[in-house]
Amino acid sequence: MILLTGGAGYIASHTGVALALAGIPYVVLDNFCNSVPAVLERMHEVGGLKPTLVQGDVRDAATLDALFARYPIQGVVHFAGLKAVGESVAEPALYYENNVSGSVTLIRAMQRAGVKTLVFSSSATVYGNSDASPLPESAPLAPINPYGQSKLMVEYILRDVAAANPDWRVACLRYFNPVGAHISGLLGEDPRGVPGNLMPFIGQVAVGRRPQLSVFGNDYPTPDGTGVRDYIHVMDLADGHLAALRYLQGDLTGRNCLMANLGTGQGISVLQMVQAFEQYTGQKIPFEVAPRRAGDLASYYADPSLANRVLGWKAQRGLKEMCEDSWRWQHRNPMGYAQA
Ligand code: NAD
Ligand code: UFG
Repeated sequence: MILLTGGAGYIASHTGVALALAGIPYVVLDNFCNSVPAVLERMHEVGGLKPTLVQGDVRDAATLDALFARYPIQGVVHFAGLKAVGESVAEPALYYENNVSGSVTLIRAMQRAGVKTLVFSSSATVYGNSDASPLPESAPLAPINPYGQSKLMVEYILRDVAAANPDWRVACLRYFNPVGAHISGLLGEDPRGVPGNLMPFIGQVAVGRRPQLSVFGNDYPTPDGTGVRDYIHVMDLADGHLAALRYLQGDLTGRNCLMANLGTGQGISVLQMVQAFEQYTGQKIPFEVAPRRAGDLASYYADPSLANRVLGWKAQRGLKEMCEDSWRWQHRNPMGYAQA
């Protein structure tokens, strides 16, 4: 049985379904600070396996002790965290408490319970302003905001924990830009308020919730002047977690802490994404060019060869699936889970 902290969130809900379809039961721990309980019913419906829910906070040691005492947890995937870059700049202590203290509380509880397998949701944001794409894991680590710092701090803590005890098995997965939804149209990304990220914003324009997209800058040194990112389908990301859990069950002598990029290795611009969405969904996405967004980089994308080689994992889904699946989710759930 696997524990998914933050298990009702966007990436975790898709990972839960992938686990269920592989016949692996899981427990969801979530405080619903950025998700809703209705997600659990959808996870049940799509994965065919009823998730066990523990409503609680990963920073609460007593909740964790009770959870580990009650369920036969063999490994943990630690998704729980706050992820809004702007909010992390305004409220750094909140981010360090939730993301760093929360992780330490979890690690301590795992130590007490004798659970030593952990997959951690890290982020490409640990690379900061690196302009050396495709980015290998050896690229300089220099996050530029408290959110990114919090991810890197947890990576360092886990590296030290794994070095101190060879029985620990740790994988830190550095996600690039997760997009898309489950093919069923029942699970997807449901941001609160105005979406800060490109794909949910495009989805809300397509469904008529927003009049147009603002393209943040068209004078970057990229082929069409707009920002380039490595968008990865959320189900490919989910499969990456399964691959990591499988990897951690193997013989890891001397290398019990892995840091791995999960991306496609392909850079896609904002305008390419808009065009792809229009092409694959038939929906028109009106847009205007707006000033650059503070803190945005021109271009970054992964070198995913380590994950390809070591985890035997490779992204399978392209722009077509990303756009079609996003649209199916958005179209069937115009207000997200609120109407579920
Ligand atoms: P999400 O907000 O949808 O999911 C996070 C879940 O964790 C939510 O359900 C939230 O309610 C829960 N949570 C937060 N703090 C908690 C706490 N203290 N105790 C219990 N539950 C708590 O976010 P997501 O996009 O699914 O991201 C999951 C993880 O992946 C996060 O750690 C995030 O930083 C990381 N990540 C996300 C992206 C991205 O672009 N979505 C990119 C890189 C890394
Ligand atoms: N963009 C627009 N208009 C929008 C939203 C985004 O033009 O309304 C552009 C951005 O300028 C950027 C691209 O679309 O060029 C992607 O932007 P996102 O906000 O979707 O994603 P980011 O790459 O900025 O950030 C994401 C996560 C961060 C994480 C980072 C690295 O939101 O939390 O990837 O993993 F740190």
